[in-house]
Amino acid sequence: MWATAMTAMRATARDRPNTLGAGVAVKRIQENMDNNNNLMIPAALVDKLVAAQHITVLTGAGVSAESGVPTFRDAQTGLWAQYSPTELASPEAFARNPQLVWNWYEMRRRLVEQVEPNAGHRALVELAAIAPQFTLITQNVDGLHQRAGSVNVIELHGGLFRYRCYECDMPVTAQEWQTGAIPPKCPTCGGNVRPDIIWFGESLPERNLALAFQASRVCDVFLSIGTSGVVAPASSLPYEALSNHATVVEINPKETELTYDATFVLRGPAGQILPALVAKMKQR
Ligand code: OAD
Repeated sequence: MWATAMTAMRATARDRPNTLGAGVAVKRIQENMDNNNNLMIPAALVDKLVAAQHITVLTGAGVSAESGVPTFRDAQTGLWAQYSPTELASPEAFARNPQLVWNWYEMRRRLVEQVEPNAGHRALVELAAIAPQFTLITQNVDGLHQRAGSVNVIELHGGLFRYRCYECDMPVTAQEWQTGAIPPKCPTCGGNVRPDIIWFGESLPERNLALAFQASRVCDVFLSIGTSGVVAPASSLPYEALSNHATVVEINPKETELTYDATFVLRGPAGQILPALVAKMKQR
């Protein structure tokens, strides 16, 4: 059960190890701003990053927002504010109306094809080059980390540009199916082809999940970037890091549940904060 996606996970502060409490987190946020409300990177955080042997990063939709890819839960602009996840992102939805679901993912694929990785994605490539060990875990299916140059990305929720058969589960490539049918038909069994995305109620890829937990457990700095942290099991990864006394950093313009437990909170867009963070590390 723990490997099943999409369960809102809201542990209370008492359940969490190494918590700081709201007062401390709010103070840290204020310390990150100068008198003109500009972001300042705390020197203590730069110290931690420079000294880190293993940096683990978890990203969510927010890291791609500045590329023009909509997030899921931002009011108004978020995909789930405009579309119903139960009608579009579940096996039941696909069984009920495969054409509707296929077309919705087609629309998202076309959108992602037209955008470029942003400064946040690129800064993570630089960070990987600086850190002795580096693990990038993403909930995103857009492939923008890879297009920016990140390697060995652990994808937890699948990929928008990969496909498999809904019936026999065989991986299928776009070259293998006949054009015309929507959704396309599996060349092996004739079943409907579906996007290789983890839908609500489905299990995450076991190996990737195990690697993600392991990297969260052993790192000394964990960055949670652009995720609302409401979808399990990804949402528990920062707590795995905290339980091992890692420094946990949240980068997000908005408050999340993690805000109250993170060691450092950097309020703002990833595309600005991440390059600033990497620049500070390089100055050391
Ligand atoms: P959400 O849409 O839930 O959260 C996006 C987060 O990004 C929010 O906390 C925003 O405040 C933040 N954000 C917005 N702009 C940002 C920026 N420029 N820089 C940094 N942060 C920014 O997206 P996820 O947490 O990724 O599942 O959602 C998790 C999963 O729920 C997704 O992987 C998706 C969805 O259902 C699947 O598609 C399988």
